[in-house]
Order: sequence, then structure tokens, then C-alpha cells
Amino acid sequence: MITVALAKGRLAQKSIELLEKCGLDLAELKTETRKLVLEDGSGDYRFVFVKPGDVPTYVERGVADFGVVGKDTLLEADKDIFEIMDLGFGACRLCVCGYPDSLEKAGGILRVGTKYPHVTKEYFGARGKTVDIIKLSGSVELAPVMGLSDVIVDIVESGKTLEANGLCVLEEVCKCSARVVVNRVSLKTRKELSSLFDKIGKNV
Ligand code: PRP
Repeated sequence: MITVALAKGRLAQKSIELLEKCGLDLAELKTETRKLVLEDGSGDYRFVFVKPGDVPTYVERGVADFGVVGKDTLLEADKDIFEIMDLGFGACRLCVCGYPDSLEKAGGILRVGTKYPHVTKEYFGARGKTVDIIKLSGSVELAPVMGLSDVIVDIVESGKTLEANGLCVLEEVCKCSARVVVNRVSLKTRKELSSLFDKIGKNV
């Protein structure tokens, strides 16, 4: 049996749709249930839905053979796993955002609110800037609005959250979308994965 870790939330529905296009019967995944491990109709695959940040962990540890997760989460997790495919959906950008004059106005060390402390440290570090990273769990746009930080590093999809709060994109860190990630050992030993990945490749 192949074990698949899927990110709960924004990418879940599209991940299921893609796998169905590849011929998997995923009726059980679409039922209202509190079960945490679900199987496809053939019994060849089992699925776990986990918080996005946990997908790379399940895959790195080999509990899941492969997973689907956003590039932003992958960059933040920085795990020893293979990223083998860009699925295209879930497209968004990781950006430095704030008020139009936030970067110029910030005195001293820049305070950055973010759910992505690792990516943030790398991004500013590569530019020779020491920043004060304030780790947040959500509603990150609130940080500059309330004066908790000067800027934020966060996902921008439609841009509506920024706009509704008077903020804007100041710098783009990178473009992101859903990726297939595979455990290093599974990639070598689970030969049946390659035919599924071929099908996924043809359906993206
Ligand atoms: C994400 C992100 C932004 C928002 C961007 O938050 O952190 O807040 O979506 O989307 P937009 O550009 O389409 O407005 P999410 O909705 O995942 O919730 P969170 O604030 O709890 O992290």
C-alpha cells in the first residue's frame, strides 16, 4: 500500500480532483468522517490529511511515501525530501508586504511578522539584513496594522486581504504553487509510484 499525505485546507480539494483524474476512486475521501486514515476504492492507497506544515515531516520520515503541499510550506520546512512535480494549482506569491512607505520609515532593525520565519531569515540574510522576526500563526496582516511589526512576509493570492487593510506588496520573495514531494527511499523502492506520477504529469 502506498501512503499519501495531503495538506488540509486550500489544496485538499484540488489534490483529490487531480488524483481522481488519474483513475483513483476517492469516494471515501469525500465523505463527512472523523476517520484520519482513508483508503481509495482499490485498497492500493491510503491517505492522511494533515496540517500543511506536517506534510514534509510525514514524507521525510517515510510514514507517507509522497505528499502534496504548497511550495511556501516546503521552503519553510526545509526537509530532506524530493520535490518532483509542480502541479500548477494553488498559485500564489510569498511577498514582503506593508504600507507603501514601511521599509523607508522603519527605524533601526526591521521588524517582520510572519508564519515563515525560516524563509524570512534566509531572504533578508541573503541581502545582508538582520531583521527582528516575529513568529505569528495567522491573520498576519494584522501585525503592521496594529504596529506589532513594520512589514510582513506572507502569502498573497488574490491580494484582497492586503487591499482591505491598506497594505501592499513591497517585494516578491518567490512564486509558489502545489508540489508533489516524495520520500527518498520510496522513490527508489516503490516502483509503482512512477506510473502514478506519469498519470499525474499528464493531468496537470
Ligand atoms: C492567507 C495569507 C493571507 C491571505 C492571502 O491566509 O496568510 O492572509 O491568505 O490571500 P489573498 O491574497 O487572496 O487575500 P489564510 O486565509 O490561509 O488564513 P490565516 O490568516 O489564518 O493564515
